[in-house]
Amino acid sequence: MSGLKPLIAGNWKMHGRRANLEEIPALIRETGAALSRVEVVVCPPAPYIEAARAHIGGAAIAVGGQDCSPVSADAARTGEVSAGMLRDAGASFVIVGHSERRSLLGETDDLVRQKANAANAAGLAPIVCVGETQAQRADGKAAEVVAAQVAASTPDDPAGLVVAYEPVWAIGGDRTPTAEEIAEIHGVVRAELSRRYGKAGEAVRILYGGSVNAKNAKEILAIDGVDGALVGRACLKAADFSAIVLAAPGAR
Ligand code: PGA
Repeated sequence: MSGLKPLIAGNWKMHGRRANLEEIPALIRETGAALSRVEVVVCPPAPYIEAARAHIGGAAIAVGGQDCSPVSADAARTGEVSAGMLRDAGASFVIVGHSERRSLLGETDDLVRQKANAANAAGLAPIVCVGETQAQRADGKAAEVVAAQVAASTPDDPAGLVVAYEPVWAIGGDRTPTAEEIAEIHGVVRAELSRRYGKAGEAVRILYGGSVNAKNAKEILAIDGVDGALVGRACLKAADFSAIVLAAPGAR
């Protein structure tokens, strides 16, 4: 870990219903005082953002969206949700460029950067996701691919920016990279952020994502250059997600 405050973000993806928001009070109970030492963000599907905020009440948990439109102004964009609307509903973060959107919906680095810029314009902190595929890693191109994604999909202004390194092959399965592989790519991301933003790049938190769970979180979060985690499946149950929050360095 660097000196940055750890950030643990939970990405519900397209899982759950309103009833699942009951996990939030449990998360607050189970994490307790750690919420002052670790920043925690829950990213439910857009229709539940406002209700998530209500369940959080005065606790120090932030809410994030999972995507936003690249268009900031109100416009004829059926089905799109703007960053300003997410903010209005109570979000303060938004995930952009998740690999599921890049691969299933063809989102490009350029589109992701526009979304990150729209997030900034609305006062949301973008969590920009990057990561190589299995084939790219096998070709020895992981570092090159990730550096290029960071260069092309991060916003013009680094204010509030978070980057999540999520190797595509580690998401949704049971494989994670070795500690050395994670440290190496986090170093690549940090170098690219410094190149792009100068000193301001040092304040950008770099999360690891991809099969983080209650068992492996402590080891992953202790890796040099890892400033937190972006968690998928293991964020859906308060017991697992709180264990990950409590595994962050300095949480207890
Ligand atoms: P996972 O998903 O933790 O279920 O592997 C992580 C992500 O896609 O953000």
